[in-house]
Amino acid sequence: MAKIHELSENLTNQIAAGEVIERPASVVKELVENSIDAGATRIRIDVVDAGLKQIVVQDNGSGIERDQVDLAFTRHATSKINNERDLFNVSTLGFRGEALASISAVAHVEILTSVEGKIGTRADFSGGSKKGQEDAAARKGTQITVKDLFFNTPARLKYLRSPRTEMMKIVDIVNRIALGYPQIAITLSNTGKVLLRTPGNGKLQQTVANVYGRHIAEKMMSFEKEDSDFKVSGFLSKPELTRSTRNYISILLNGRYIRNFKLATAIMDGYGSKLTARHYPIAIVAIHVDPLLVDVNVHPTKQEVRLSKEKELSRLITSAISDALLDNVEQTSAFENLTTNRKDSLVDQLKFNLNRDVVNTKREKDEVPEVHEEDNVTALTATKKSKEIGEQKHEPIKKSVHKYIDLNKPQENDKYVITPTWQENVEKQTQLTPFNTEKSSSEVISSGDETLANNLPALKYVGQMSAYIIAENDGDLFLVDQVAARRRLAFEKIRKAMNAKKIVQQGLLTPIVLEFGNLDFLQIKNKLDEIKNIGIYLEDFGQDSFIVRSYPTWINGDIEESLRRILDSYLNLDHSKNTNLFARIAAGQAKKEISGRIKISAAECIEILNNLRQTADPYHDADGRLVLVRMSQNELRKMFKKDE
Ligand SMILES: Nc1ncnc2c1ncn2[C@@H]1O[C@H](COP(=O)(O)OP(=O)(O)OP(=O)(O)O)[C@@H](O)[C@H]1O
Ligand SMILES: [Mg+2]
Repeated sequence: MAKIHELSENLTNQIAAGEVIERPASVVKELVENSIDAGATRIRIDVVDAGLKQIVVQDNGSGIERDQVDLAFTRHATSKINNERDLFNVSTLGFRGEALASISAVAHVEILTSVEGKIGTRADFSGGSKKGQEDAAARKGTQITVKDLFFNTPARLKYLRSPRTEMMKIVDIVNRIALGYPQIAITLSNTGKVLLRTPGNGKLQQTVANVYGRHIAEKMMSFEKEDSDFKVSGFLSKPELTRSTRNYISILLNGRYIRNFKLATAIMDGYGSKLTARHYPIAIVAIHVDPLLVDVNVHPTKQEVRLSKEKELSRLITSAISDALLDNVEQTSAFENLTTNRKDSLVDQLKFNLNRDVVNTKREKDEVPEVHEEDNVTALTATKKSKEIGEQKHEPIKKSVHKYIDLNKPQENDKYVITPTWQENVEKQTQLTPFNTEKSSSEVISSGDETLANNLPALKYVGQMSAYIIAENDGDLFLVDQVAARRRLAFEKIRKAMNAKKIVQQGLLTPIVLEFGNLDFLQIKNKLDEIKNIGIYLEDFGQDSFIVRSYPTWINGDIEESLRRILDSYLNLDHSKNTNLFARIAAGQAKKEISGRIKISAAECIEILNNLRQTADPYHDADGRLVLVRMSQNELRKMFKKDE
């Protein structure tokens, strides 16, 4: 065995960094949490290449005194706790005093900071040691720039996923932090493209709209309940709005986003049987509790905590949610003030997009971000000057030789865009194109069993009786459910149209703008080609929205609503299941097209009976409901005891 020796500070820092800083999103999380702890009301996060090249977090918080900067980058140095008692009464997000030390151990870090009314400081740290310090402009707040993450730990780099995935992780964590702090104006952009902007007006519902999109926010309802220890409140999706993963559940404990399986289960329990299997709600559950009841010192990333009275809290959450769902049967949306007329014109929608406190994507890439907007925060202003200071030391981003990856403009030769899994998904989908002759494995969509179809004899129309067409063949009686039969026919017509080589389009006089939450937007963006295959052409319209100028004629009813429903089913697609998505979409459309019974003539009945025989499964509609029942001559005879 080699001799035992103490590790160098550098090495211990790197080891410790391994726990805290896993990926660009961890850097973003730690820096933003520091800004929040510093009392910032505005935080701006700009990343380049999904944070792999550069992450800048800027705030208008307290700033750091010149003589404290070194300490800020020293392991186990913190301003947030003093003694053991404090450790069990933590009211800040940070307290371990190691985030900055860890980040600077595995990247190049520049800090620009100033306390109100004092000259600022600029300092550089790299690979765990300080590279220099100088005075800088006086503007209250802190800006930390992290470049070339993991430059000295290549093994870590190898474990990173594609920039697209890393960006999603950044967006995800910033979304959750934003949901925990609606009173802070947070902006996130990637290579100049704004992905989130919250107004910081303290209204959680506004933040929900910024994060998940107005359309989802409108379908959510608020809830609130408290007991002697806890207060829980937040927003919930109604049971009909679900997602196929738990990722849309955010639990915020005193503002901190935490992962907690039991509490997530408590949320689901609140929905009870209103949720079907493998469907999860969108929920933001903010818990307020005395910090004494929480032990945050159990996990390096502080995303897991130990809670006293967890059972009581679970019960409170479950009952708060089930009460809210009961009360809310027809509660009007909590988002009325965010809602514009559903039929608003393109211009109105655009106005809305611009007016809501979200996003101006038209910013030039190299333009210097302006942080202070309307109010007179003398402060934190990433003005040209501070940029100049930065430029003395660092090469500006635009001169970089590295290729930029704008995640919103996938390039064909970008190997990250087409991941093996993505290709697999596409393959899966193509195998599942409508009108496949194989038996579908779906439990809902009926099987298209040819043998049955061939067995359906020619039916002779006899008459109509309320919802049923009465028909006869060779002495057998057939009762055909009018609605189900028409749905089966509509379903097949739609599948045929979806599958056509050339999908007939109908132009829209007023294009439709569909706005989404940032993550949903990125996800749909991944599937544009697939969606094009069924005749839906979505163009990136900026601000997390798509514009649609025409629609395939197989879509019926309210076009915007139908498009949303279809895209929603893409978002809800459970890739682990071999679901025939196109068939599901067609089934949904067929159901909408044929919404109820109508008066039909004998001639139309005859046509329905004839057409049914051509369908893949004349016995069921696309949702699996019975289309017809048959009573054979024998059965009839038995019924009337005529067999003797
Ligand atoms: N944006 C900021 N504004 C003002 N002070 C800051 C900022 N970021 C860091 N600091 C100061 O630097 C110290 C060290 O920060 P660091 O993130 O390393 O540790 P921490 O936040 O105390 O604990 P943790 O490791 O749990 O995050 C903080 O305690 C704080 O005093
Ligand atoms: Mg910290």
